[in-house]
Amino acid sequence: MTKNPNKGNEMDDLFDHLEQYGIKWFADECYFDWVEKNLPEEVFRKVSKGFEDLDDPNLPRNIRRNFFNLIGMDRVCGPVHSMKAKQICRSGEFADSVIEKGDSVLDLGCHTGHLTTYYARRKNYISILGIDEAQDAISFAKGKAAELGIKNCSFEAIDFLSFEPLNHFDLVISTQSLYSITDLAKAAKVLRRITKDNGRIVAIEPLNSREKLNHFVSTLENHQLRLEHLSFVFYDDLGNYQGNPALVFRKNGPSKKYDLDTAFNLFHTHILSFRKILLDILKKSRG
Ligand SMILES: C[S@@+](CC[C@H](N)C(=O)[O-])C[C@H]1O[C@@H](n2cnc3c(N)ncnc32)[C@H](O)[C@@H]1O
Repeated sequence: MTKNPNKGNEMDDLFDHLEQYGIKWFADECYFDWVEKNLPEEVFRKVSKGFEDLDDPNLPRNIRRNFFNLIGMDRVCGPVHSMKAKQICRSGEFADSVIEKGDSVLDLGCHTGHLTTYYARRKNYISILGIDEAQDAISFAKGKAAELGIKNCSFEAIDFLSFEPLNHFDLVISTQSLYSITDLAKAAKVLRRITKDNGRIVAIEPLNSREKLNHFVSTLENHQLRLEHLSFVFYDDLGNYQGNPALVFRKNGPSKKYDLDTAFNLFHTHILSFRKILLDILKKSRG
């Protein structure tokens, strides 16, 4: 493992927090040697196969759920999530910055609650519910929150698409979750129903093409969830420099026009230029 370069600044708190879940950041592919030592071979094989299957948009729901159950288990959660520790960190940092005093918050697709407990711990004036359809991940989340002594959060195993509350949440957070729900229009309907008037939805999702970003934004906008903020978060897990759009929507907010194509082009150009700079540095350092 490479030494965490963020110790000693604002990010250290989140990295330290994730370490309680066995999640560590790796600067390069030495991650795979570490993971081989830390995951039994059979589990490693199942996880690798699970990741391949996830690419299939028609993957049956139960197989998807089984996969998230598998990676929600103690000793599996840490090694698997470590491949995207910085992505989790940057997303969590952004979502945390959107939380306001007194908010009733939902962490949608919270998995093992590694970010839910972070928000709850930092902001003891909020109440936060984490939900996920993966029962084993939720059991782990409950146990870990109790172990860490965090009281202002709770967890429920439930399918978001059948989630019932009406006008309940000031803020719904989705970090890498909404994008994995195939019926996004149905999810947008639920988001609209459960959010209070003027409530917000923050979504940081791997929408890695113009088409995916446009589809995501227009689907939520079609349900009167208005985009009010667009920026990007960047991360370098396993030596791979990438980024995700960070979006904030407001229920019944004013309609603004965003040039998503131009924003995406700038984002893409930044990623490519930065990768080139990193590659040049690497080549020079190798002589
Ligand atoms: C990639 S994980 C993201 C976990 C966490 N939010 C993070 O940022 O590290 C996506 C999670 O969404 C959950 N999920 C997917 N579809 C769901 C649904 N319909 N209802 C509830 N949870 C769902 C999965 O079980 C999984 O735990």
